Amino acid sequence: MDFRTQAFGVAVAGWWLAIAIPGLASGEANLHRGKQVYEKYCLACHGPQGRGDGATQFDPPVADLTSSEVLMKPDSRLLRSIHDGRTNTAMDAWKSTLSDEAMRDVLTYILTFPR
Ligand code: HEC
Repeated sequence: MDFRTQAFGVAVAGWWLAIAIPGLASGEANLHRGKQVYEKYCLACHGPQGRGDGATQFDPPVADLTSSEVLMKPDSRLLRSIHDGRTNTAMDAWKSTLSDEAMRDVLTYILTFPR
């Protein structure tokens, strides 16, 4: 490889990183915000890994966010559950507490729990 080919390779790699890194960083920022929201508002019921084993128990029980029952629902459906709550359960509507973005971030975070 002559110098010019090498320089070109470095330039392409630099250009690629300049595009890829901000993309990754913004994804990480969403996840980080989602984690903060979860720990503040959801962890007490849903537990540290979403298994419904938080400090407070309810009837009907807190959903296990890693169960297939929950995960088979499309994201839009889960987002609606967070937004509007679940009738006759302890799951409140969060629309007046959280922004749309915060609800999306916390859903993104929930979906990273080990299954
Ligand atoms: C007071 C306890 C409590 C808190 C706090 C709480 N949840 Fe829930 N959550 C529940 C219960 C109980 C259910 C099960 C509802 C049912 O049986 O349909 C549930 C269900 C869910 C489901 C599954 C909904 C579905 O459609 O199956 C999601 C997703 C969820 N919660 C997300 C959250 C998020 C995100 C937060 C924090 C912003 C949160 N929950 C805070 C009690 C809670």
